[in-house]
Amino acid sequence: MKFLVTGGAGYIGSHMVKFLLSKNHEITVFDNLSSGKFINNKINFIKVDLVNLNKLDQLMSKKKFDAVFHFAALSIVNESEKKPRKYYLNNVQGTKNLINSMIKYNINNLIFSSSASVYGAPKTKKILERHKLKPISEYGRNKKEIEKILVRIGKKKNFKSISFRYFNAAGADETAKIGENHKPETHLIPKILNSIKRKKKKVYIYGNSYKTIDGTCIRDYVHVNDIVRAHYYGLKKFRQKKCILNYNIGSGKGYSVLEIIKGIEKVTKVKLKIVYKKKRKGDPPILIADCKKILKDLKWKPKYKNINKILSTAWRWHKKSFI
Ligand SMILES: NC(=O)c1ccc[n+]([C@@H]2O[C@H](COP(=O)([O-])OP(=O)(O)OC[C@H]3O[C@@H](n4cnc5c(N)ncnc54)[C@H](O)[C@@H]3O)[C@@H](O)[C@H]2O)c1
Repeated sequence: MKFLVTGGAGYIGSHMVKFLLSKNHEITVFDNLSSGKFINNKINFIKVDLVNLNKLDQLMSKKKFDAVFHFAALSIVNESEKKPRKYYLNNVQGTKNLINSMIKYNINNLIFSSSASVYGAPKTKKILERHKLKPISEYGRNKKEIEKILVRIGKKKNFKSISFRYFNAAGADETAKIGENHKPETHLIPKILNSIKRKKKKVYIYGNSYKTIDGTCIRDYVHVNDIVRAHYYGLKKFRQKKCILNYNIGSGKGYSVLEIIKGIEKVTKVKLKIVYKKKRKGDPPILIADCKKILKDLKWKPKYKNINKILSTAWRWHKKSFI
């Protein structure tokens, strides 16, 4: 089949590309390389910004894609608060352009990278998809708005979509050829691994008085290749006449920041020096996915169940990479 992967030069997108190639599909990547840099020579790579509708139309008219995997986005939560316009333009307008261009050229199947940030600070420990969407960051509001657009268009037109709400993507491909590398890196695991690589042992924890087992925030980590597999399983839903779906993708288990640090110490065999800092605004204490819906509908569950295994795939990549 012919697939378009937007943001295919980034962390999750590059894993998606590798997986699709392993199944012998024909892949085109659209990426503006604002943060991504992985380019696989077996794909048709096109440097393009989704904000540029004319260029997008030109490119879309050339190939009839069976489906589009839409990973391209800016995703630094703090930055989104400081630069809401930049985020709206890139994430919401860029996605609107993509959808409009798809509709123009009769490409009707889209898988969208949404996020647990749509839930904001949830009321329940485990979050179901029907939980109220109350994002507390501009980034989360971007994701919520795009999900709403997809629902609206799906009801009016023959346009099918699945919004996958990822919790924390983590780990790297077993080959250690691709892995997580955001610039700047704000994600806990790669941030610490980067420091260790540079022989720095100081680690900051923001807040230790949350109502959790050890006072630090709890998050749900899911291996990047498990996320990718869920996308592939999702494709079968496009056989339905109507398809406007959303699913959580998580492990269903939560780990505190301290537990992750201990796991990293174990995997890297490096003792870290923890420094506690003040809580950050907008950090919900606990975010854990309830994954019953995706298990029931797509028969998906994570293969990586052990957090130390996830951490060791990440460490293997970090050790080898040139970042
Ligand atoms: N990493 C996570 O834990 C996580 C969690 C929830 C949701 N998500 C979402 O998953 C998607 C992928 O995340 P990631 O961690 O791989 O991010 P990433 O930054 O590694 O990849 C995003 C890619 O999109 C490209 N891009 C950004 N804006 C673009 C534009 N206007 N036009 C063309 N290309 C553009 C970047 O150059 C980059 O290669 C994003 O939509 C993100 O919001 C990620």
